[in-house]
Amino acid sequence: MKRRDFIVRVAAAGGSTYAAMKALDLLGEANPAVAQSQTLQIRPGRGKRVIILGAGLAGMTAAYELRKSGYKCTILEARGRSGGRCWTVRGGDQIVETTGTVQTAQFAQGQYFNPGPARIPQHHITIDYCRELGVDLEIFPNLNYEQYYYNESVPGDLSGRKVRARQAKADLRGYLAELLAKAASQGALDAPLTAEDKEKLVIFLRTYGGLDPDLFYRGTNRRGYDVEKQGAGDRPGKFSSPYSLSALVNLGFANYEAFEQGYDQQMLMFQPVGGLDQIAKALERKVRSTIQFSSEVQEIRKTPNGVRIVYSQNGNVQQITGDYCICTIPLKVLSKIPADFSPDMQAAIAGVEYAVTGKSALQFNRRFWEEDEQIMGGITSTNIGLATIWYPGYGYLSKRGVLVGYYNFGAVAAEFGALQPEARVRRAIELGSRIHPQYNSHYETGMSLYWSNIPYNLGGWATYTTQTRQQFYPRLNQPDGKIYLAGEHLSYLTGWMAGAFESARVVVQKIGAQA
Ligand code: ALA
Repeated sequence: MKRRDFIVRVAAAGGSTYAAMKALDLLGEANPAVAQSQTLQIRPGRGKRVIILGAGLAGMTAAYELRKSGYKCTILEARGRSGGRCWTVRGGDQIVETTGTVQTAQFAQGQYFNPGPARIPQHHITIDYCRELGVDLEIFPNLNYEQYYYNESVPGDLSGRKVRARQAKADLRGYLAELLAKAASQGALDAPLTAEDKEKLVIFLRTYGGLDPDLFYRGTNRRGYDVEKQGAGDRPGKFSSPYSLSALVNLGFANYEAFEQGYDQQMLMFQPVGGLDQIAKALERKVRSTIQFSSEVQEIRKTPNGVRIVYSQNGNVQQITGDYCICTIPLKVLSKIPADFSPDMQAAIAGVEYAVTGKSALQFNRRFWEEDEQIMGGITSTNIGLATIWYPGYGYLSKRGVLVGYYNFGAVAAEFGALQPEARVRRAIELGSRIHPQYNSHYETGMSLYWSNIPYNLGGWATYTTQTRQQFYPRLNQPDGKIYLAGEHLSYLTGWMAGAFESARVVVQKIGAQA
């Protein structure tokens, strides 16, 4: 039946045309069906009590979904805030590390720093939850052709030079097209192509790489201008000349481009307007009455019919019982909590490694990257320890801005992490000023964190090897008595908020099938 026929028939039958149109989403209004699109079809809870450990995204999603079907949920959250790693630091907020250091953010009004997740791929369920929860999104500039690749101590004349992504991409595309076009035109291409296909390929490659008629790449206007830009009057502009193929290959460009082309890193990407924690806050609004803050889990016990959790709330030891427990505590923390886990589960919890990673945020009183270098958001990649510098994708054209001064991983992150927070910031400035000398005159305030030192996390995100994925992941996915684990670590989307959302849904479905 066509939509119009349906509406006419509803009206003829005395029904509400408005309701019919609304059901078909023809009025352009918020549609309640859409607003509940995430609801899982599970058996009604009929008052079953679920104790959820952790008010991060996984814990709050579990409570949110279970409550839609009538389960009673209590979330125990060790911190005084919800969200876990889904976190935004603004002026006055603190970063405390297990070593005892305390940093208080001095950022100006309106400036913020996302120490954890910061970018959302379009194809992640996170976007669907933002829709359902009413979280405003804006584009996160994960790739900007204006950003730099800056490597030191590499062979070739691009070492220690700021190479615009635009220029590296145009040149490499050109050179690779040239090589292929020459091979194809000389019949040297060992590929399943007819002679006609090869001719067409050469024509294609000329356009694709910006090649001259003789199939040489000598630069293209795609790489832009370096000295004189096009303008009005007597300014025709002068296009820049290409870098050499050898220098570009030695620069290590392939790693950078491979990252940008990753399925989860491709533009467009998104971020919540006003800080990443808007997602956690929106979820918290749905489940606030279930959360007990400042409640640190001390024991996880099985009972004949369910679970018993011992926790310390502001220093007072208490306990709570339930029919089920959903435990979202990161494994590095969970492995240290006394619990009735069976030995194979305990071994699995202890067996998974976490990403070693850290970040810093630097506030400057002038957006020199925008004003002097025309970089409106994006990420500069470098091999000088910082790994990446992120330019803010909000507040364009304003005076101040907060850069992510470094977001690094592995051994380099551990080196930074071993320093005092202030020393990390100093190092970020010292290294970063090689790329942006303006750092030295416009820096105002900064902070840093090392995820291995963050209480209640003790690591970035779960990183499985093929072996630990095989050995431990299946066990972690099975309940232990009435205890179910959830979180990004119980997904194939580790290190993404989507992993937390999806894992919570899997566990809710399992409990819903059983209850
Ligand atoms: N998903 C995290 C990132 O994009 C690890 O950096």
